[in-house]
Amino acid sequence: MEKKFKRTLVTTALPYANGPVHIGHLAGVYVPADIYTRYLRLKGEEVVMIGGSDEHGVPITIKAKAEGITPQDVVDRYHSIIKKSFEDFGISFDVYSRTSSDIHKKTASDFFRKLYDKGEFIEKTSEQYYDEQANQFLADRYITGTCPHCKNERAYGDQCEACGTSLNATDLINPKSAITGNTPVLKETKHWYLPLDKHEPFLREWILENHKEWKSNVYGQCKSWLDMGLQPRAVSRDLDWGVPVPVDGAEGKVLYVWFDAPIGYISNTIELFPDSWEKWWKDEDTKLVHFIGKDNIVFHCIVFPAMLKADGSYILPENVPANEFLNLEGDKISTSRNWAVWLHEYLEEFPGKQDVLRYVLTANAPETKDNDFTWKDFQARNNNELVAILGNFVNRAMVLTHKYFEGKVPACGILTEYDEQTLSDFANVKAEVEHYLEQYRFRDALKEAMNLARIGNKYLADTEPWKLAKTDMERVKTIMNISLQIVANLGIAFEPFLPFSAKTLREFVGLNQFNWEELGRTDLLKEGDYLSEPSLLFEKIEDVTVEAQIQKLLDTKKANELKAYTPAAVKEDTSFDDFMKMDIRVGTVLECAKVPKADKLLQFKIDDGMGGRTIVSGIAKFYNPEDLVGKQVCFIANFPPRKLKGIESQGMILSAEDADGRLVLITPSDLVKSGCQVG
Ligand code: 2FM
Ligand code: ZN
Repeated sequence: MEKKFKRTLVTTALPYANGPVHIGHLAGVYVPADIYTRYLRLKGEEVVMIGGSDEHGVPITIKAKAEGITPQDVVDRYHSIIKKSFEDFGISFDVYSRTSSDIHKKTASDFFRKLYDKGEFIEKTSEQYYDEQANQFLADRYITGTCPHCKNERAYGDQCEACGTSLNATDLINPKSAITGNTPVLKETKHWYLPLDKHEPFLREWILENHKEWKSNVYGQCKSWLDMGLQPRAVSRDLDWGVPVPVDGAEGKVLYVWFDAPIGYISNTIELFPDSWEKWWKDEDTKLVHFIGKDNIVFHCIVFPAMLKADGSYILPENVPANEFLNLEGDKISTSRNWAVWLHEYLEEFPGKQDVLRYVLTANAPETKDNDFTWKDFQARNNNELVAILGNFVNRAMVLTHKYFEGKVPACGILTEYDEQTLSDFANVKAEVEHYLEQYRFRDALKEAMNLARIGNKYLADTEPWKLAKTDMERVKTIMNISLQIVANLGIAFEPFLPFSAKTLREFVGLNQFNWEELGRTDLLKEGDYLSEPSLLFEKIEDVTVEAQIQKLLDTKKANELKAYTPAAVKEDTSFDDFMKMDIRVGTVLECAKVPKADKLLQFKIDDGMGGRTIVSGIAKFYNPEDLVGKQVCFIANFPPRKLKGIESQGMILSAEDADGRLVLITPSDLVKSGCQVG
């Protein structure tokens, strides 16, 4: 028997406040959590959704250092951007706070202290890298060196991003401090560890036996962690940014970010309900659900539950419906490579189209495997589904009612068998949507909601009221009444998924009071109720619009390649005299043509100010010959002539080789006389 809970506490992973949020965040965590919470609210259940920014951790300190500002400046900046993006997309948090708040610092500190006092930690001294010039221990991310596996010289102390191997800082060959560039030394330091091994038997039973219903990606990951055997994990760090470890002799040490961040869920609940927060965290009748991405599974299914268990007064999560990753146009989303669709930028470029993105991200959510977001799919789902199915049905129902009944809901007459069938089809939708939502299967739930619009579309197409209007107005009344009831139902069914459009829909038909239980009813609208003027719910997205987005990504890719480009090593020294021996000149292209049977070669006729010359050059892959006529180029004038494909080439045209191997001609920045010298 499934347990009945009195209330639901929904938490959403706290995003790091070191960058804005992107579509991957929305698809993986916040849209599904919002759908789930809105659904429960609509059912009148007691539910809260907790969110906030994760403002500690090393990457934030690195960013601050790089920009010459404080970590607090960094998190202040991004916390507001992130918070605003969530508001703009209708993510309906009951509280969205931050881990640099005083309440959080106190809550996290007290949490640690209670476990410390109960003897739940072990203290261990180990050797860690220390920068003697900067006078500080170095977090793994602050140490770079050569990867022992692939010899990449820019590996970090925790991971080599070239080959993906996880590393310990002491594995690096030739380690260097990222702060001063010096070689760090090993120095002893004391830390507190949570003995996960001690909690392993409990965790095994709680997850592997009692939570077999968890999503298979989540269950599988937990099982493989447990099967590998759990080790004690350090919960403190030598760092000057974070919640200080509240123990004597712990100066310069803070709680590890992954210790304090999940406690942020509790702090933010305290901020929301200072007097009654405990019932949300300590009453067995509360259902705790963590919405996260797959990289957070171990922390939410193993580490945080072990912390809560060690405290002893908290409930544990009932479910952790983690999603896999969303990629973008075939590549992993990356903040540092700017490979993302940022939410604040999306809204500048697609104002008012929050629901389109919510729709696409839900329809294509990475629920069971990694998925790809492409702009073409975005366009197709908008045009073929939102516009052609949902928008089209609603618009037809509205327009026809205005045309035949002056915008007033007509009476429902005698139902035909076909009407009855349609009504029973659409009455089934509620149970289907519920079934999937309760199982955290949001893609399928959305499909079912969309089915309601499909039913409506089919009904209008089959009954053809525009034809009957000439002969049987009574029948048209019934058809339009049923269609409008479906529109009103859509205003309820889509509320969890597309809250902006659902609100517009309800305004169209004047549905002010509503709740989930009414979904499926055929008397939501009464005869004589007024409709608003029809307007389009969704609009078509044109090719040029998505092509511009694709181009923007291609530009990013190009910029990244250039950034990652390491120029070839400088050649051996040469002398001024040797340089002066080279006769480089500017010429003007008089003629240019492809060399037959040579796909790389172009034949130039150059005005060199001295009667002209022929030069053959290997740039055919990069230029159209006709585009080059009239251009000025630089060439070496004193190479001995040589034959290429039977043509005598009298010199060499200069070009630069770009990061991707593309050859780009060198031309003077202003017109000069043909034949003048370069030097
Ligand atoms: O992976 C992340 O973005 C983390 N900031 C998530 C933290 S979730 C929770 F523990 F706060
Ligand atoms: Zn490597």
